[in-house]
Amino acid sequence: MRVGVFDSGVGGLTVVKSLLEHKLFEEIIYFGDTARVPYGVKDANTIIRYSLEALEFFKNFDIDLLITACNTVSAYALDELKAHAHCPVIGVVEPGILAVENAISDKNATILVIATQATIKSRAYENPLTAKGYSKISARATGLFVPIVEEGLYSGEILQSTMHHYFKELPHPDAIILGCTHFPLIADAIGKYFKGNSLLIHSGEAIVEYLEHHYNFSKRFEKTELKLFASENPEALRSVAKKWLDL
Ligand code: DGL
Repeated sequence: MRVGVFDSGVGGLTVVKSLLEHKLFEEIIYFGDTARVPYGVKDANTIIRYSLEALEFFKNFDIDLLITACNTVSAYALDELKAHAHCPVIGVVEPGILAVENAISDKNATILVIATQATIKSRAYENPLTAKGYSKISARATGLFVPIVEEGLYSGEILQSTMHHYFKELPHPDAIILGCTHFPLIADAIGKYFKGNSLLIHSGEAIVEYLEHHYNFSKRFEKTELKLFASENPEALRSVAKKWLDL
């Protein structure tokens, strides 16, 4: 199987990491729209337009599946991508919701969704969770975490005070949806902030669970060929990949 992975920038590499760990694909073609990141502060029309333009890039490849690793794209542009794509397209929001459902049966559990401004505004996580009966959902746009992760500040004072700024008035969450590609890199710090007893839902792990459930992976690939492309400065993307993916 050859899969395309689309993200607004470098963050989708956290999803690639999960795909590599589970050896699901023979080849991964990654495209990060680094020239136009961040998507999480843009409006719906722009996110959809950028996503459809990125799709044109993937049309150069014979891929079996396209994964939109970006939560913001998954929240806004999935239907349009599906309508125009040459292969099946899956986003990360639905797998994230299913991961909550699989892990949490108590509908009174407190669930915290953290994501970009655009994803929170879309209510892409909140609406389906509410429809499934979860009654205690809070949502917080935590966009400052994106540049913090890109600076490599996975711990320390800046991260601590930013977490305090965003989280200080929130009830203790039983589960936290890390609704943004970058957040798995600070998952440990976020977990510790909430005393280490919240379940963390990670898009990469959620999508692997979803793929394993919906597709028949009869084979695992010992070696995956990873091809990295970016709309600007592909070298920078490769150097982040080296760091995050231990290449
Ligand atoms: N990839 C985006 C997401 O998961 C975060 C970065 C951005 O704002 O583009 O929502």
